[in-house]
Amino acid sequence: MEHEHVREVDPAVADALEAEVDRQRDSLQMIASENHVSRAVVDAQGSVLTNKYAEGYPGARYYGGCEHADEVEQFAIDRATELFGAEHVNVQPHSGTQANQAVYFAMLEPGDKILSLDLTHGGHLSHGHPANFVGQLYEVEQYEVDPETGYLDYEGLAEQAAEFEPDIIVSGYSAYPREVEWERIQEAADDVGALHLADIAHITGLVAAGAHESPVGVADFVTGSTHKTIRAGRGGIVMCDEEHADDIDAAVFPGGQGGPLMHNVAGKAVGFEEALQPEFEAYASQTVANAKALGDQLSEHGFSLVSGGTDNHLVLVDLRDSHPDTSGGDAEEALEEAGIVLNGNTVPGETRSPFDPSGIRAGTPALTTRGFDEDDCRTVADLIARVVDAPDDEDVIAEVRDEVSELCDENPLYE
Ligand SMILES: Cc1ncc(COP(=O)(O)O)c(C=O)c1O
Repeated sequence: MEHEHVREVDPAVADALEAEVDRQRDSLQMIASENHVSRAVVDAQGSVLTNKYAEGYPGARYYGGCEHADEVEQFAIDRATELFGAEHVNVQPHSGTQANQAVYFAMLEPGDKILSLDLTHGGHLSHGHPANFVGQLYEVEQYEVDPETGYLDYEGLAEQAAEFEPDIIVSGYSAYPREVEWERIQEAADDVGALHLADIAHITGLVAAGAHESPVGVADFVTGSTHKTIRAGRGGIVMCDEEHADDIDAAVFPGGQGGPLMHNVAGKAVGFEEALQPEFEAYASQTVANAKALGDQLSEHGFSLVSGGTDNHLVLVDLRDSHPDTSGGDAEEALEEAGIVLNGNTVPGETRSPFDPSGIRAGTPALTTRGFDEDDCRTVADLIARVVDAPDDEDVIAEVRDEVSELCDENPLYE
């Protein structure tokens, strides 16, 4: 990855880009929402489609010269349709957040009611946090996971819905390590005449590959990010049935966005094509197996996992019992110094602040892309334990840094 054209014009940015390639190559990317896309997706996203204005949809644009943009967007739509089995797919949202906002804008009036999971229990800002405009425009109430088990409390959710009478229930999460039972949330929504939005941002790739139950055909709306477990071009996607297709399309453009990022739509098309190949199923199930191995080995080291384990691509560690003097932020910082990049994360029943929370969240999508298996992930858990047990010990951090580099060399990236 030379970036020679950038270098001719702007050596400072070229240096930063190359340093970023080196950072990704030589450290372990364990932020659960990240991945390493293929060179093909990088090429598509770096293409001249960035020049093209294509407001509208394939065959019905507001500008001329859209014949190739049309082809590319239709490829993305057709492939997503094949991957997920949805009746209607909109591939234009610039992000997962904007995909969610399109659903609210299409279906709700200001002041309508949203019932969604609390942020500190694994929800997302775009589900109605007051810092997002969604939390200010609509009336939001939040549900929580069961404090004892860390699992979703489906009965509690149904009772809360009966009392609050929401217009929409949002499911799908940022830091929930367990399988989501979409039907049970759909029942709760049906009982009160609410819509159901299932946001599969994190698990889009697992759902596409059958490694997690799909909400398509169950929930009224399914949104996703396209750059996380599914490893396609960066952005979002909305899926729904034909009945809501026109409303969703109008809410994406012109409701919430202008011209689509056609280079990203091309990256989505290419990534979806890759996800249709049989290897992708193996990738998704290896991602889950790796997260289980990581979680089991962390438990062996005495770490406490929210819900006791994982069914998907991430583990959420509550440090309060095992390391009461180490915050998630302290752990994140020490681990990053050792070449292990993950994030401090709030945990259910959070007693610190979101800026320096009590937990860490670790995911396996990017490690799996570069070839890590269960043994490698158990080794990574050993390394995490060594650092978090001694976050101020520079010798330990230096030793772990060397072992991380060895693991990276054994599993090369962007050769
Ligand atoms: C559940 C959930 N929804 C939406 C998003 C937003 O995705 P984006 O960053 O593409 O806006 C995220 C991001 O991690 C997420 O976890």
